[in-house]
Amino acid sequence: MADDKPWGGRFSEPTDAFVERLNASVGFDQRLWREDVDGSLAHAAMLAQQGILTAEDLQAIQQGLAAIRADIEGGRFVWEQKLEDVHMNVERRLTERIGQAGARLHTARSRNDQVATDLRLWVLRYLDGLLPRIDALQDALLTLAERDGDAILPGYTHLQRAQPILFAHHLLAYVEMFERDRGRFVDARRRTAESPLGAAALAGTPFPIDRAATAAALGFHRPMANSLDAVADRDFAVELVAGAALMMTHLSRFAEELVLWSSQEFAFVELSDAFATGSSIMPQKKNPDIPELVRGKTGRVFGDLVALLTVLKGLPLAYNKDLQEDKEALFDAADTLGDCVEAMTRLLPGLKVRRDRMRAACDAGFVTATDVADYLARRGLPFRDAHHVVGRLVGWCIANERTLPSLSLEELRQFSDLFAEDILAAVTVEASVAARTSLGGTAPDRVAAALAAARARLAARGT
Ligand code: ARG
Repeated sequence: MADDKPWGGRFSEPTDAFVERLNASVGFDQRLWREDVDGSLAHAAMLAQQGILTAEDLQAIQQGLAAIRADIEGGRFVWEQKLEDVHMNVERRLTERIGQAGARLHTARSRNDQVATDLRLWVLRYLDGLLPRIDALQDALLTLAERDGDAILPGYTHLQRAQPILFAHHLLAYVEMFERDRGRFVDARRRTAESPLGAAALAGTPFPIDRAATAAALGFHRPMANSLDAVADRDFAVELVAGAALMMTHLSRFAEELVLWSSQEFAFVELSDAFATGSSIMPQKKNPDIPELVRGKTGRVFGDLVALLTVLKGLPLAYNKDLQEDKEALFDAADTLGDCVEAMTRLLPGLKVRRDRMRAACDAGFVTATDVADYLARRGLPFRDAHHVVGRLVGWCIANERTLPSLSLEELRQFSDLFAEDILAAVTVEASVAARTSLGGTAPDRVAAALAAARARLAARGT
């Protein structure tokens, strides 16, 4: 009865059925099976190398694990809740297949270093898949910028039309955010790539193991230095989920802009039919569900981060069962981020950019008012006074339903006699954009250079 369990020796009563269900993690940690099998193979090979396992036992373990791998891949493996987790399911099946050699695999190892190793390996592999997906997202933004980037739209502050900018400049702002996100994941990867294997339960092991060998075999840069830290640490999971939360924040801001821009009020963009949905009652509607979902799913990733941090904050060293609660938060954040990166990447090529609507919003929005004030300031009026003059000018335009570019020189001169003929060219949207030549500004040459630099950065990574 209690001997059903790999740890059953000490127990005389069977586990309560409810406890068995609550205690089990196999429902969600079975997705670690590849890492678990790889970790066991590396551990077994090292044990044999060190003379702790015989060559025959190693061969039996290798064959047994290969058969288990094939069973899992073929959908023939039966996961059992009473065996708690992925580690004991695999180990028990191995022992059923190959007998004693399977039972020797756990020498000089504990589930505590095993699960930490599996989870780190999983994060490393996830990150290796995520980085190219972030590159693809940046590629999609750059491609859109190359296609429609010369469109001019109002830049906003306080969601009020502020100054005209190139659409490419706006898109490149997101390229920068995603570049920082990528950098955080690259940085986190370096710290994740340290192997806990060989820390055993918490204190190390008396067997003459070679931790550097298992670390290298599994692609880690080095073994972790402290056995207690090795089994208790989940910083690497926090770093991934925190990076995911911040990247989701960026995706969500972009999603929010797409929702606004695809509204009839803005109508700056139109989503392709493949990335929008209709209403079951209002036939005229085309809803931006995908950006809305990206925005909405951001909340659950924040939740994952708070859940994970909260699990860790009160834990004494070293392993505690609370740590089993790390996995669902980690997997959920990772899956959600991956899906949202992909959704945005695939949505962008079908985006229709309404240059006419962007342009009309500029014309109606006094977005060159700063240029008029700059003009007066260059002619000697202190900027604060120039600001005041242009404020009165804009007030007059609003009262008389006029736009700045429509004003004649005579009309302008009623507000200041510093206005001369050249103000008429300075007040256009194109001139305003072209004038912003400062580093990082929206002038076409600056934006073209920024676009080329972002392209070169991606190309250097092979995208
Ligand atoms: N399923 C466990 C977890 O996810 C594996 C480690 C269990 N270790 C233990 N000493 N009970 O954390």
